[in-house]
Order: sequence, then C-alpha cells, then structure tokens
Amino acid sequence: MKVLAFAASLRKESWNHKLVVLASEIARREGAEVDLARFAEFGMPLYDGDDDRANGLPAGALALKRRLDAAQAILIAAPEYNYSIAGPLKNAIDWVSRARPMPWRGKSVFLLSASPSPMGGIRGLWQTRIPLEGCGALVFPDMFALAKANEAFEPSGQLRDRALAEKLVRDIVGFVRLAEAVAPLCAGARTLTTKVRQEKIEAALEDESRIQPPSR
Ligand SMILES: Cc1cc2nc3c(=O)[nH]c(=O)nc-3n(C[C@H](O)[C@H](O)[C@H](O)COP(=O)(O)O)c2cc1C
Repeated sequence: MKVLAFAASLRKESWNHKLVVLASEIARREGAEVDLARFAEFGMPLYDGDDDRANGLPAGALALKRRLDAAQAILIAAPEYNYSIAGPLKNAIDWVSRARPMPWRGKSVFLLSASPSPMGGIRGLWQTRIPLEGCGALVFPDMFALAKANEAFEPSGQLRDRALAEKLVRDIVGFVRLAEAVAPLCAGARTLTTKVRQEKIEAALEDESRIQPPSR
C-alpha cells in the first residue's frame, strides 16, 4: 500500500515534520511504501475562485493532487493555530478539493500533531477532520497529539517518552492495517456504474438548488 506523508508546516525545524518522520518509519516497517513529502513542495496562492475558473489548480496544488492520487493512505501531521486548523493546510485542502474526481475521497487518513503546548495540538486535529471528512476521506478515529514537542525528541529523532513511543507504534500499525483492508473496497467503488452514480451525486451537490429547490 502506498502512503503519502507530510507535515503541514513550512518551518524547516518543524516539530510536526519530526513526528511524521517517525510515523513514516513505523508505517514502512509495517510494509507500507511511504512517500514522505515536505509541505514546501506544495506551495500555492490563497484560494481564488476567479483564478480557479481561469487557470484551474496552481502548480503546488496539482503536485499535491498527483501525490494523493498515487496513494491509498495519508499521514498528516498538522500544527494547531489559534485552537484550530492551520490556514496553509485548509487552503491546500480547499484547492485540491476542486479537482475531479475528488482526490481525498476514499483515502484513509491518520492525523497527528505536535506542539510545544501541553495540549499537543489536539483541538486543531478535531477541526482538521471536518474538511477532510467533508471531502470524503476516511479519517481514522484515533489521533496522536504530541505535547511539549520542544522537549519530546531525543537528538536521534526518537521520542524520549517510551510509553508515548509505544502508543505511536500501536496507532500507526493499527492505521496501516485498517487502511490496507479498506483500500481495495475504495478502489472497487470506481466501477462504471458506481462511478456514474458518484458523478451524479457530485454534480447534484455542486448545484445545491437541485437538491434543495427554492421554496417559491
Ligand atoms: C499563528 C500561530 C498560532 C498558534 N496557535 C497555537 C495553538 O492554538 N495551540 C498550540 O498548541 N500551539 C499554537 N501555536 C504554536 C505552534 O504549535 C508551534 O509554533 C508549533 O511549533 C508549530 O508547528 P511546527 O513546529 O510543525 O511548525 C501557534 C503558532 C502560531 C504561529
């Protein structure tokens, strides 16, 4: 199974990047083929409907879409900004959601976060689930939030806290096994009949007036 992994931070010394590196190593040991990306590879402007209409996806969003298309599962380590999803990640989700077929649909996603705060960014992850699930991703119920990230890593990059390191292994192994099990079902959903039905639903959702006609 192919897994795309990235931290939604542009910072070179990102704690979230360090965390997603560890999660990627665990997924590889579990047999996954991991494509570890840096978020800077997906640089893109703020979403602009006029730009979208005139030019379609910008290069960074297209690059992310292509990497998503090649994967069945995704590991995202997402920083929490102001108790919520970080703007650059939401912007990337929005741009990519304009591609058809929807690149997030049927992809298993595991969410992690790392923060110097005692909450570890968990509040941001609850917000991050919403647009991803709205775009049809299968977001794994468990999430991993690393508190006090500035003190959490050994110089080798491993987690200092053994119990936390073991929890990370349990979470990622569980995720890889479940994602592997559902991947063929999600790929199977693209049979012709289902595909046509899916396209009709997508078209209807895009024109909400068709499913919610004005009362007069
Ligand atoms: C605009 C902004 C808002 C932030 N808000 C929060 C917050 O609500 N909760 C939190 O735990 N950390 C918050 N932080 C701190 C980030 O967790 C911290 O900068 C973290 O290192 C970012 O992740 P990174 O190391 O992967 O870049 C905020 C940082 C910024 C720049």
